[in-house]
Amino acid sequence: MKLFLDTAEIRVLRELAETGLIDGVTTNPSLIAKSGRDFLATIAEICELFEGPVSAEVAASDFETMLKEGEKLAAIADHVAVKVPLTREGLRTCAALADKGVMVNVTLCFSVNQALLAAKAGASFISPFVGRLDDQGADGMQLIRDIREVYDNYAFGTEVLAASIRNGAHVRDAALAGADCATIPPNVFADLYQHPLTDKGLEIFARDWAATGQKIL
Ligand code: G3P
Repeated sequence: MKLFLDTAEIRVLRELAETGLIDGVTTNPSLIAKSGRDFLATIAEICELFEGPVSAEVAASDFETMLKEGEKLAAIADHVAVKVPLTREGLRTCAALADKGVMVNVTLCFSVNQALLAAKAGASFISPFVGRLDDQGADGMQLIRDIREVYDNYAFGTEVLAASIRNGAHVRDAALAGADCATIPPNVFADLYQHPLTDKGLEIFARDWAATGQKIL
């Protein structure tokens, strides 16, 4: 499963890029606002840090303007994935951009039918928002499982990008559900490798090694 970072914080992105474990980045207007930085410059800088897909979201809601914004974002770098909302105009924009060979990430997906339309519109990625469905008392992960089944039924090429991920369990369950990618907040990344038994075991190894009085170098 590909792991994307869901943030526009350059310092954090630079630090985690060094792990070699990050396959791409997703941003959205709220994350850009939170960064307090210029949108276009931030996307350009992120594209310098990562070779994988970098999602940058349009701001408009009408087809003509979203198309123009999408073309401008796509021109920043070949690996920009233009994010459009799952609306009728957004789907129309997705199809037009996909026809031009632009990667499109259709976002704010909350149903299988929405995901079906995004695939038919030629989306490169579909972003079902797991956490926000959970917040409403629904089963967000079931949506990932259902989209996976539908996409496999018809061999759709659109990648399932689990989004609105809130914890390590979401990452685990998205992988079990067969998501192609998960986009995770930086704080969740630490959840993926940290375990108290690992720390405890390493402490014991270090103590026992010290007792041998030996050195490797
Ligand atoms: O990628 C979408 C993500 O940024 C939304 O997450 O926690 O605001 O639902 P959240």
